[in-house]
Amino acid sequence: LGNGLGSTPPMGWNSWNHFNCIIDEKIIKETADALVSTGLAKLGYNYVNIDDCWAELDRDSKGSMVPKKSTFPSGMKALSDYVHSKGLKLGIYSDAGYLTCSKKMPGSLGFEEIDAKTFASWGIDYLKYDNCNNGGIKPTLRYPVMTRALMNAGRPIFLSMCEWGDMHPALWGYTVGNSWRTTNDISDNWDSMVSRADQNEVYAEYARPGGWNDPDMLEIGNGGMTKNEYIVHFSIWAISKAPLLIGCDVRNITKDTMEIIANKEVIALNQDKLGVQAKKVRMEGDWEVWSGPLSHYRIAVLLLNRGSVATPITAHWDDLGIAPTTSVRARDLWEHKTLSSTFKGNLTANIDSHGCKLFVLKA
Ligand code: DGJ
Repeated sequence: LGNGLGSTPPMGWNSWNHFNCIIDEKIIKETADALVSTGLAKLGYNYVNIDDCWAELDRDSKGSMVPKKSTFPSGMKALSDYVHSKGLKLGIYSDAGYLTCSKKMPGSLGFEEIDAKTFASWGIDYLKYDNCNNGGIKPTLRYPVMTRALMNAGRPIFLSMCEWGDMHPALWGYTVGNSWRTTNDISDNWDSMVSRADQNEVYAEYARPGGWNDPDMLEIGNGGMTKNEYIVHFSIWAISKAPLLIGCDVRNITKDTMEIIANKEVIALNQDKLGVQAKKVRMEGDWEVWSGPLSHYRIAVLLLNRGSVATPITAHWDDLGIAPTTSVRARDLWEHKTLSSTFKGNLTANIDSHGCKLFVLKA
């Protein structure tokens, strides 16, 4: 979307994966504090995004949404002032339907103008726009109405279309939003995570600066996968130029989780200014090679083992678009090491079950 936002995939945090509907202004403020104190904010995680369940079911007499009095008593302007004072941005949630998915708050269908103006007046920087209870009206008739309303609201607001991929938003989303979901909801387990990655990969060619494919938010730190699996999760999201929206409780974050989501080299790969999403370039049984170009003639390569035993995996230069005789240096982004040997024709590494290696290659 040509609103100047999302020139690289958005980074930040969202309340849904960990807290579901049990949110309040204290959690949001403490999360903002924690993003700063852990150093995550400095690494680029700057959106603090409130998901479903923040509003009263009833609009006020003027038709505006009202923050839930029991959980957000100070109101959203005060909250955005707080979040902005920390150097962060505040995101909010609504739905392109009559009610949100929780059915605990109203949607914005038919109220796009007033809601966009309200969000802008509160100092909101990001809107996640969900797809429940939509009366069967086509998304291409509902989402652009909010796009226009936000464009007229007087404040740049990142628009995250949460259409779940039903009507292939990758094909029409670029003029409507800054990102679009390509899948339904992720859960905190390996099968769910890799299947979101697969469904999202199909649309690789449609991602670009200003409009990104979104395979849903991160589950790292929520406890349902092993450390290796979470490393795969982060690696695929990074190389796929997916939004990096942390979904755990950052107020109580572990060292293992920090080691993954605070990996500067993997973040830099995701935020590379070329903005090209990687694709699968080879699949053989349980293993896969994903690759995509980066700025400065570099190439990102992911060796992924989906199987239950360790296996050697080879990336061949012809799959990567490198001339066969070119000798290449390889940087291992998880080991933080440039390998001492140079490689010609291919690169092979032994990969653990449900594990991966992530390299940046340079001739
Ligand atoms: C469905 C979305 O896909 C989720 O990410 C979350 O926003 C829930 N709705 C909230 O109800």
